[in-house]
Amino acid sequence: MDRISLYWKNATVEAVGDKHGVSEKELKALAPQIKTLTKQMADERKAGKLRYRDLPHDEDMLDAVNREVEHFRDQGCEVLIVLGIGGSALGNIALQSALNPHTYNLLNDRQRAGPQLFVLDNVDPDQIKAVVELVTPKIKKTVVNVISKSGETAETASQFILFRDLLRSKLGKKYKDHILATTDPEGGTLRKICAEEGFRTLEVPPGVGGRFTVLSAVGLFSAGMCGIDVEALLEGAADMDKRTKEGDVMANPAALLAAIHYALDQKGKTISVMMPYSTSLYYLADWFRQLWAESLGKQNGLTKKNVFAGQTPVKALGTTDQHSQVQLYREGPNDKLITFLEVERFAQKLAIPDSMKHVPTLQYLAGSNFQTLINSEKLATEYALKESQRPTLTVKFPQISPQAIGQFLYMYEVAVSYMGGLLDINTYDQPAVELGKEATYALMGRGEYAELGKKIQPTVKRDPKYLV
Ligand code: PA5
Repeated sequence: MDRISLYWKNATVEAVGDKHGVSEKELKALAPQIKTLTKQMADERKAGKLRYRDLPHDEDMLDAVNREVEHFRDQGCEVLIVLGIGGSALGNIALQSALNPHTYNLLNDRQRAGPQLFVLDNVDPDQIKAVVELVTPKIKKTVVNVISKSGETAETASQFILFRDLLRSKLGKKYKDHILATTDPEGGTLRKICAEEGFRTLEVPPGVGGRFTVLSAVGLFSAGMCGIDVEALLEGAADMDKRTKEGDVMANPAALLAAIHYALDQKGKTISVMMPYSTSLYYLADWFRQLWAESLGKQNGLTKKNVFAGQTPVKALGTTDQHSQVQLYREGPNDKLITFLEVERFAQKLAIPDSMKHVPTLQYLAGSNFQTLINSEKLATEYALKESQRPTLTVKFPQISPQAIGQFLYMYEVAVSYMGGLLDINTYDQPAVELGKEATYALMGRGEYAELGKKIQPTVKRDPKYLV
């Protein structure tokens, strides 16, 4: 299997000098902490406390996903709508964008490897209505996969009510054959509705936070439906599992990634930019943003209060953002670590025709190809950033394959566990997300939140005097 790799030496974090970069010596100084964290993770895993790490080996989960994929593909599904948000959507979008063509939804039924896919991860009425109008004529061939552990998340619940009604109004009693719910195996509002209405179901794995579920039924069902090789994804993740059991920081890519981020965070690189030089990989950066932000952004540490930990994750796209962001990255505050994602072999090299070789300033392009151009631009940006003492790091994909994507997702999940350990915080909770959710309930009139509603009311009043 082709393996992804990290590169951090010439022209990268190592080459920008000790003040703004990280030396091998500094990384090795973190070795004892990494060793302890590796042992701690192995113990937690044995005690069944780190279930996301076992997902690549969960054959029952894979069988259940394959069973549902087979069922709905046999049913002739031509449109798949995923309803979910956060951890219940970002992985699905990342997998689809990385492993299917950009034009996937525009291809005809014979050209596409599966149904058209719409992941509705917002409650924008214009967006929802546009999708409703598009799918209504194909409603008999439409399947809705509602993904919510709790079933109470306002965004997913509201969309679910709308699509359930649409299916009922068009298909009568058959509506339930068009819904697959991915939810908690036992508790929660959605599980209860499934039992009452008889929907087919898949499980959100218990004890696994939303942002760690991409390699479970949450992310794999839509991937499988759209022709992505889910076994190969898990095979890649399982291979990365082997590599990330290693206690030596220089041999374990997840530990190394965390050590570099941690060392630089301590030196004021409080922003972590992920910049794929591949449009297909762009949504991996969106998935990474949630993983890094929700896992590491914590007010209190495990042993200390008010640590206000976390690095702000930012996404950028090469080469596009060379013409938008790189000015800031080179000359603005030196507070960023930039991680490039580089693809060694694109599926297409795509030649640049030589028909303009008579134009002196364009001659260099004649007969070259887009793969060489995009990768040269990546090296050029890396060099330019190094010249400004800006640290960078590269995750190299030999090619974009399900195995490589599986490795990448798993590597970052384990890296965030190490990073949380180094920062001495709880990586797996997200207490600060709650207040916004509860305030929404209060503003929307949910009974149990009436007291909170009263507290919020004065703050949401807008004084026209200040509308400029
Ligand atoms: O990572 C998380 O835990 C969150 O992003 C959740 O996935 C998100 O809030 C959706 O929650 P639920 O699955 O309960 O609808």
